[in-house]
Amino acid sequence: MRSTLLSACGALFLSAGTLATDATWMNYTYKTGPWQPPQLLVDRTGAENPGLIFIPVRNANTAGTAVTIYENNGKLVYQGPEEVTMDFKMQKLFGKDVITFWSGTPQIAGGYGYGKVHILDNTYNEIYTITLDEGFLTADSETFESYIDVHEHIITPRNTIIVSAINVTQHDLSSAGGPTDGWMTVSQFYEIDIPTNKVVYKWNALDHQDLIPLASSKYPPPSGNSRKTPWDCYHMNSVQATNEGFLVSLRFFWSAYYLNQDGTVRWQFSGAEDEGDFRGEDNRFSWQHHARIYNETDESLVLSLFNNANGQQESQSATTGMAWDVDLIFKTSTMMHNVTDPNDPIKTQTQGSFQFLGAAAPTSHLFMGYGSVPKVKEYDGAGNVVFTGQFAPLGDGQSYRAFKFPWTATPMWSPVAVAETSDDSTTVYMSWNGATEYDNWAIYSIPSANSNETTLLTTVERDGFESHVTLQSLDASYLKIAARKGSKTLRFSDAISV
Ligand SMILES: *[C@@H]1O[C@H](CO)[C@@H](O)[C@H](O)[C@H]1NC(C)=O
Ligand SMILES: *[C@@H]1O[C@H](CO)[C@@H](O)[C@H](O)[C@H]1NC(C)=O
Ligand SMILES: *[C@@H]1O[C@H](CO)[C@@H](O)[C@H](O)[C@H]1NC(C)=O
Ligand SMILES: *[C@@H]1O[C@H](CO)[C@@H](O)[C@H](O)[C@H]1NC(C)=O
Ligand SMILES: *[C@@H]1O[C@H](CO)[C@@H](O)[C@H](O)[C@H]1NC(C)=O
Repeated sequence: MRSTLLSACGALFLSAGTLATDATWMNYTYKTGPWQPPQLLVDRTGAENPGLIFIPVRNANTAGTAVTIYENNGKLVYQGPEEVTMDFKMQKLFGKDVITFWSGTPQIAGGYGYGKVHILDNTYNEIYTITLDEGFLTADSETFESYIDVHEHIITPRNTIIVSAINVTQHDLSSAGGPTDGWMTVSQFYEIDIPTNKVVYKWNALDHQDLIPLASSKYPPPSGNSRKTPWDCYHMNSVQATNEGFLVSLRFFWSAYYLNQDGTVRWQFSGAEDEGDFRGEDNRFSWQHHARIYNETDESLVLSLFNNANGQQESQSATTGMAWDVDLIFKTSTMMHNVTDPNDPIKTQTQGSFQFLGAAAPTSHLFMGYGSVPKVKEYDGAGNVVFTGQFAPLGDGQSYRAFKFPWTATPMWSPVAVAETSDDSTTVYMSWNGATEYDNWAIYSIPSANSNETTLLTTVERDGFESHVTLQSLDASYLKIAARKGSKTLRFSDAISV
């Protein structure tokens, strides 16, 4: 996460890639509602895994700033309300699929933010809203309703949620070459009980200077600073609950740290040569995001991350998606993946995500959201690109993280229809924002607005987000449409007059 301005500059150095780089980007528009997401341009080069693409679109167009779900053919499935959102994903809560996302106020210059987490069920009903207010200090003394940071919002197997947070603190930065009366942003995380919104665990990076010393930050402090320009020492951008504690990713330490339940550091997996607890040649990475572990036992685990390989204003190396088989006994790691698209080597300076589609296995497909670069890619297990999607001009839109999930939903709202009549023909447009389960529409005439007496006029296959059908010489005053799966009606629209 960082400044729009800086990423706009950084983008000048990016390769053009295989898709459009035009400054005017097409937005989808619809007859049935105000949705206006940016077009997702797709380049499909191989067999893809099933699933829908989750992109919290930002900085593209105002009406497109929202959580957004697309099909892999580029068509819209769902657009949420217009707001700045991050970390839009499907998770499990109490055994059920839910979608979660952050919304709030990003602190653009610092690359963090203040907001809430929304948890929606598979009807898009917001079942929980998670907030945090523990007495945080902000850079410009502004106050917020809730202080959850943009980076992490992960539901644990114990049905709590872990969120990241930032506190601005005055601190002696001399150990890292900064001023004794300096200011810094302190990375913290909180584990919150979902039904009660009560904090059940907290961790503060500054409490662990023995093994996470300020001087080890790869992002040195400025020579003089103030509360308004605190030093971003750690930049914690992911947290995960593990068998024995937690995994945190500190971008500015080029490291993922395994924490014991009491918050102390058990081990450090560093991308820098001769740092951390693991030896080997194949664990070189830098400025990473989204560290995750899978298949954890006492002896081994799989660790994956989004290797930015570029700092805030760098354009050095291709960003890669990396995963390792990690041996915890001998403290070694063996590379499983290090994927990039040789025809479109993206250099992501900020943000990004790396996802195994299915098990953390060498053969599984991989999905990457390129953060400050408005692209997503799916790779097969051999590292071949099978899908590229782009949702904004380079240097414009951003996603923080983007994912692919087998999401199914039947919204709590009804489908909507709009009719346009000209001369002897009536065209009916139909949509059902967010619905994944219908495959066709049935159009009925009804004698009056409140009548249940339906006469089937025609049916039409679903065509992406908005379908339409033209009826000739229509002899009806009112219509109703039904979204159907085969011949089964899932939901009727309200009656519309024609
Ligand atoms: C898409 O929307 C943005 C912002 O509203 C606008 O600048 C851009 O011109 C639109 N694209 C087209 C092709 O109209
Ligand atoms: C934030 O820092 C201030 C100043 O050091 C401190 O008083 C406050 O307790 C801290 N808040 C949290 C939530 O850590
Ligand atoms: C990962 O891939 C990138 C891009 O091809 C390459 O530059 C880098 O050396 C690879 N990293 C390792 C540890 O092999
Ligand atoms: C991780 O576990 C899954 C099954 O849960 C398995 O399919 C996969 O191969 C495992 N990964 C590794 C690297 O052993
Ligand atoms: C139509 O059906 C609904 C639900 O079955 C019922 O509540 C309503 O009274 C019916 N309206 C008419 C006009 O029959």
